[in-house]
Amino acid sequence: MIQKWDGVAGKRVLITGGTSGIGLAAATELARRGGQVTLIARTESRAARAVRTIVDGSPKPVSVDVLFGDLASQASIRRLADEALAKYPRIEVLINNAGAIYRQRRLSPDGLELTWAVNHLATFLLTTVLLDRLKESAPARIITTSSDAHKSARIPFDDLQAEGGWAGMGFRRYGETKLANVLFTVELARQLQGTGVTANCFHPGFVASGFNRNNGPLMRVGMMLSRPFARSSRKGAQTLVWLADSQEAGAFNGGYFFDERRVAPAAGGQDAAAARRLWQVSEQQTRVA
Ligand SMILES: NC(=O)c1ccc[n+]([C@@H]2O[C@H](COP(=O)([O-])OP(=O)(O)OC[C@H]3O[C@@H](n4cnc5c(N)ncnc54)[C@H](OP(=O)(O)O)[C@@H]3O)[C@@H](O)[C@H]2O)c1
Repeated sequence: MIQKWDGVAGKRVLITGGTSGIGLAAATELARRGGQVTLIARTESRAARAVRTIVDGSPKPVSVDVLFGDLASQASIRRLADEALAKYPRIEVLINNAGAIYRQRRLSPDGLELTWAVNHLATFLLTTVLLDRLKESAPARIITTSSDAHKSARIPFDDLQAEGGWAGMGFRRYGETKLANVLFTVELARQLQGTGVTANCFHPGFVASGFNRNNGPLMRVGMMLSRPFARSSRKGAQTLVWLADSQEAGAFNGGYFFDERRVAPAAGGQDAAAARRLWQVSEQQTRVA
């Protein structure tokens, strides 16, 4: 049954990665449409700048709040999720959008490979800790920003820490985490059937955002040179806004989207057994009971 959904107006929308690029563009538009937006941010200065952009992006007063946390750290995620649960009696939309690529292999404060920790495990942990509140708030939606970079990847179940090699300036690892986003959505959607909560993910296209700027001057120049071939953050956020706001999108659960259309992910993103196995190892890696 399609959920009745009058858009995001008046609904609590939590978004990670809302301080830059695609997430900031989506947060601005969702706030403009009346969503009660909460940015999950890691630094005060970037949060303040994003809030200004969101406020300036609407002719009418908007609702925007900030919770602080570093998604690389599981203790930090648990803390900010507890704050969200204490502060918001209802959470109708959770957007897992934060993500990064790292040119060199690094470890998170929990000793986990950083791309995996930020792009996949943070998504997994934040969602599972907030899941009961989302269910209580149904109809509700969980949206995750994936990427077509998942298409050439497989989940390295025998080397989740990526100790066996670091190819393509971290791009291979990045693709694995984006495949994890798709498989996470597949398994989550299966578990959510009949709850009134849906889970979907999407590819934003190649977007001129702040992506890859953390990787030194060479990468920054590379991103600058490729800008003419990239779409704007606003365009990249369009499918995310549609998934969060439109009545139509309520018909879908477990989908992968591009330009407001459901498209097939790669075969690796349709592997239900891999999705269940990934869920189990993610529970272990995040110590979720
Ligand atoms: N750009 C593309 O072409 C493209 C294509 C496909 C998919 N994507 C995906 O789109 C999503 C958004 O990326 P973007 O392109 O908009 O890049 P971006 O401008 O670099 O934005 C990334 C966001 O993630 C946040 N973030 C990163 N690490 C974090 C951490 N440890 N804790 C908390 N927040 C953290 C950043 O916060 P700060 O502001 O504090 O840095 C920022 O808000 C990512 O999941 C990415 O994989 C991007």
